[in-house]
Formats: sequence, C-alpha cells, structure tokens
Amino acid sequence: MKIVIGNDHAAVELKNQISDYLKEKGYEVLNVGTDTTESIDYPIYGEKVARAVVNGEADFGIAICGTGLGISLACNKVKGIRACVCSEPYTAQMSRRHNNCNVLCFGARVVGLDLAKMIVDSFLNSEFEGGRHQRRVDLIMDIEKRG
Ligand code: RB5
Repeated sequence: MKIVIGNDHAAVELKNQISDYLKEKGYEVLNVGTDTTESIDYPIYGEKVARAVVNGEADFGIAICGTGLGISLACNKVKGIRACVCSEPYTAQMSRRHNNCNVLCFGARVVGLDLAKMIVDSFLNSEFEGGRHQRRVDLIMDIEKRG
C-alpha cells in the first residue's frame, strides 16, 4: 500500500518519524512535504497530498501541520477528498469505518510521536463499513457536486 505524506515547517520532524515508521511496516511512502523548518504555507502541501490521492498515486494521504487544521482545510478543497483531523485513535478508526476518509491529518504541535503512531495505525488498519454509511458519504459528495 502506498501512502503520500505532506507537511509544513511545523511538522518536518514528525513527518520524518512517521515516514520511517510506515516504511518499517512495509508501506511505500511518497513524501511531498517540505523538508526544511523555514516558514512555508501549509495549503501548498495539503493540495499536494490531496492531488496524489485523487490521482491514484497513493492509496491514502497523511497531512501534518502545527494543528492539523489548516492543512486539512486545504486537502478538503480538492474534489474527492475526505480529510479529517484526528488527535486520538478512536476518531481515526471511525473516520475510516463510517466516513471513508482518505486523508488523515494531525498536528505536530498537538500530538507526540507515540500517539501519532497509534492514530496512524488506527486509520490504516480500519476498513470502510459501507451500507448506511455509504449513503451518508454519498450525500456529502453530492454537496461537493452541487458546488
Ligand atoms: C504554522 O505556524 C501553523 O499555522 C500551521 O502549521 C498550522 O497549524 C495551521 O493550521
């Protein structure tokens, strides 16, 4: 499975740590984030993550900024993206099972490495349940189609 990961200056270290963690687990990782701590604008990297997912270059995206908020807002502007900010594993798990989210976001200034690993595991190890949840996700995507 291939994961695209992107970040702004606030999340370089955590991006590298999560990237290494994913590779150790056998995932292929595409890094589209900044690799320096020079201040930079997170929407650039949210869009890169989101486009890699909708273009099929990656199965899922992980986007990290200081809080996870700004970069998730940017991701969600790309059609076909359902990005969520998760600061604990339960929400990350449910974001897959019920919401079929395809981009996971979190904040490097909010979660530590161990918690981030648990959030990532919960997201990637959970499957969309479909059924009534498919109908609800379809209704969300209908909003996007209406513009
Ligand atoms: C950068 O200082 C910070 O604003 C950014 O990383 C993010 O938290 C925005 O939502």
